[in-house]
Parts: sequence; structure tokens; C-alpha cells
Amino acid sequence: MGAPPVTAHLLAVGELSPGRNTLLLRVPALIATLRPGHALHLVHAEAGGYRLRRVAPVTKVDLLAGSVEVALLPRADGGRDSLAELTAGAQIAVVGPIGQPIEMDSASQQILIVSDGEGFAWVRLLATSLISAGRSVVLLVEARTAAELPAASLLPEQVEIVVATEDGSLGHQGSAADLMSTYADWADQVIASGERGLLNAVTSAARATSAIDRTTAKGKRRSRQAGGAPWLQLLISHEIGCGSGVCGGCTFSSANGSVRLCREGPAVSAPGLSAGTRRDS
Ligand code: FES
Repeated sequence: MGAPPVTAHLLAVGELSPGRNTLLLRVPALIATLRPGHALHLVHAEAGGYRLRRVAPVTKVDLLAGSVEVALLPRADGGRDSLAELTAGAQIAVVGPIGQPIEMDSASQQILIVSDGEGFAWVRLLATSLISAGRSVVLLVEARTAAELPAASLLPEQVEIVVATEDGSLGHQGSAADLMSTYADWADQVIASGERGLLNAVTSAARATSAIDRTTAKGKRRSRQAGGAPWLQLLISHEIGCGSGVCGGCTFSSANGSVRLCREGPAVSAPGLSAGTRRDS
């Protein structure tokens, strides 16, 4: 049932933003298979001896160094994260890749990414890979305060980063979704990742945009994209589960019907917008 775990060696514990840890792993058996949108399952004994499969999005792949960085998602119960307390040299059982790569049309040259601090872990590798492939990337990123934003140095300098903070301590005061109208017409594809409130706001903004631009060149380009990658994809995070499509614990209702986030996800079509086809796993 599903791929068997392989052993990863922990090289270092790092940080994406304050309180959001990463693990740098050497896991040669999996490194060549990992793409933006993929996660690994970290199989680890928690308090009481229960071995849970924690979902850890892949945030960086360094083929030359042979290393993979994954992010530790905050525990839903707010509990202590024993994985973040491991030290270099520890061994961790991992399973992967989990999920499907994010769909990108080869014709899409201008990519808009919208994220908050939680969602950044799912899109860092995407932004880096798109820049390596010669695409243009704008990242709209939001946080409560400037101190909670991911460091700009985590991304290639070619990524145009536009910041929104709830308290107005840096950039636009409000949500990153407020800025959608400025960039939606520029974007060949939009990828949104974060808490449900942000994803709902981005979807609403995209609907409003598509309602007024059906006659523009970009609007026509979007309709030609029907059947390919969806114009707007939402990355939906899940915390634990079987990872093999069996338990149903990660089922999500998308524009294309029910999807298992661990198999068909984490990217889903936004409801009410043109939905392309997805590959089966
Ligand atoms: S985690 Fe079990 S079906 Fe997805």
C-alpha cells in the first residue's frame, strides 16, 4: 500500500520565517523525482510512540549537493514539533513524492503567485524553478506584520516580490488578494497558496477580473487555455494521512469534483473558473 519509506539523513534544521522550520535532508533515492507541488511524508514517532506521516512540502532541491529541503507545517493541535528538535545526523524515514506537480502550460511565460506565510512553503520551489526556466514571476505575499514575512533572500532576485501586511508595517496595508486586479491581466497563470481566507479572496478577485476582461487579449488567451492547465490553481495543504489515496482523510471538493490531495493534489482548480484536466496518478 503505497511506496515503502526510505531513509533520509538530516543535514540541518533551518527556518523559512520566524517559527516555520525546514529540514535539509540527504535522500538520494528520491531527489530526481521531486517537482514543484510535491511533498514528502516524514514518518516519525510522536508522543505516545505513534508513528505519524507528516506532510512536508518540498521547498528546495539541490541536485549538485544531493540535498532536499522540506518545510515543517505547523501542527494543527499547536503541539510541540519534535521533528524541529532533531539534530544533524539524525535519520528519518520518508515516503514520496506525495501528490502531483503543479501544472504549468509551456506557453505560460508570466506567472503570478499569491501566498501567505503558511503557503510560502508550497510555492518556493515553484518560483525558483520558473525563474530557472526563463519565466517571469511576480509573488504577492502577505503576513500580519513585516516580521512574519519570509525573507526575500529565499527566492531568486529575478522574482518581483510585492508585500502586503495586515498592520501596514510594510507594503500594502491589507491582503495580497487586494493586489490581484493590478496583476491579473498580466498573468498567464495564477497559483495561490495559503490559508482558506486568502484562497477564497483570490478566487473572488479572479472571478471579478474574468468577468470584466472576456473581450481582452488576455481573456481570449485564457479561454484558449481551456483543456490545458487551469488559469487559477489553489494549493490546498493537509497535515497527516496515509499518503496512498486509501484513507480518504485528505478529500477536497474542487471545481473538478472530489480530489484526494495526497494523490491528485495539492493543486486544485478554483471553483467557478475555467478548469483544465488533471493527470491521474
Ligand atoms: S492521506 Fe489518505 S487518502 Fe490522502
